[in-house]
Amino acid sequence: MKTLLKNCKLIQGLSNIIIEDDKIIDIKPSENSPLERGTALAVGCVTFGTVETNINQIIDIQNNLVIPGIIDPHVHVRDLQQSDKEDWTSASKAALTGGVTTIFDMPNTIPATTNLVNLNLKREAAQKALINYKFFIGATNSNLKDIEEILSENPSDIAGIKVFLAGSSNNDTITDKDVLKNIFRVAKKYEKIVTVHTELQSCLNKWKQKVPNSSILNHNEIRNRECSIMGTKLVLELAEEIGNKICIAHCSTAEELKLIRKFKINNSVYCEITPHHLLLNETILEKVGNFGKVNPPLRCEKDNSALWEAVYDGTVDFIGTDHAPHKLYEKQKEYLQAPSGFPGLETGLHLLLNELNKGNLTIGKLVELTSRNPAEIFNLEKRGEIKVGNFADLTVIDMNMKWKIDSSKFKSKAKYSPFDRMKVQGKVEMCFVNGKKC
Ligand code: NCD
Ligand code: ZN
Ligand code: ZN
Repeated sequence: MKTLLKNCKLIQGLSNIIIEDDKIIDIKPSENSPLERGTALAVGCVTFGTVETNINQIIDIQNNLVIPGIIDPHVHVRDLQQSDKEDWTSASKAALTGGVTTIFDMPNTIPATTNLVNLNLKREAAQKALINYKFFIGATNSNLKDIEEILSENPSDIAGIKVFLAGSSNNDTITDKDVLKNIFRVAKKYEKIVTVHTELQSCLNKWKQKVPNSSILNHNEIRNRECSIMGTKLVLELAEEIGNKICIAHCSTAEELKLIRKFKINNSVYCEITPHHLLLNETILEKVGNFGKVNPPLRCEKDNSALWEAVYDGTVDFIGTDHAPHKLYEKQKEYLQAPSGFPGLETGLHLLLNELNKGNLTIGKLVELTSRNPAEIFNLEKRGEIKVGNFADLTVIDMNMKWKIDSSKFKSKAKYSPFDRMKVQGKVEMCFVNGKKC
């Protein structure tokens, strides 16, 4: 099966892409490209010679932007016993709406992905996926053997090990430094990344006592920045000692970025940020209430600026949405009862495209953070770049389309967002996953 995608706007210019089955087999400048007008005839002969004889399908991309399919390394698909919140079908549809063609699923499901039996249940559920995926194995205080059992088989569907240093949403928490060290040792042995939610539980407990007034408006004070900073410092120091690869998940403060910058010099340290920590801060909570309740919390304006700086100077390696769907009625409960997290798959890339249109991001930087780097860092072979021989995971974008985010239309089962009603420019038109139009 051969498909010709005509008139794709790539970074290098207007091009025609030929896909055979799941791979890109040819990329040629389009005959409409002003750069190539002089050679149009020759190019036309080659391309359309092939068209007439071999091509089964021609799709006109109409000069829309085409980028590598987004790789989102931080998604909570739920399913299993929480399929009312989200399942692999609804999460896949949300992903495709947001231009995402690969996701890494987090382990804090019910049951948790902390042993082979539960991983196999998840593998079964994930058969419904319409996109590429990998799983994180969750670490607990006592499942080192289970982690080894899974990793020793060298399965290709494991992205890495996930550690939570605090309770966030139905997750196991690592409270013992020696346990953490042993997890890092195993990760090193099997060359896997450990992604850490670094808020530190003992610190959170202290701040909960200190801030008596529990309200969403105090979420950033209660889950105090000090707890993220302390946990990140602890993890960076331990990883330096052991020598394993580490990823600081959803980094939210200026102080952590400073630490990461320092430790990156001599260590394999990776930094993930989310679109919401980059673009929102706690001042929005007055308007959105618990829809903006997330861990770590939305921080301050100075953190937004620090995150932007870290994007530009290369401290940030990739952007994960931390898509964390919960039921609407749960989010409508009072502050303490409402779960943390909100859906992000359908807004993530769109918010970044809007920043691109505003001149705050270059297309090169966007592609680096959303596909090239995650593919390279997590060893996704033949993905993350539009080139001959790679899988045809592509996201087609109309950069001119102006529209309003409408969470009631989300494909995710979680139909709310702190970004609801925001006007943005740039919209995903279609995706290709392994050469198939979605
Ligand atoms: C996540 C969830 O709901 O699973 N919630 C969140 O606020 N980010 C858990 C997590 O990533 O911490
Ligand atoms: Zn987290
Ligand atoms: Zn998360």
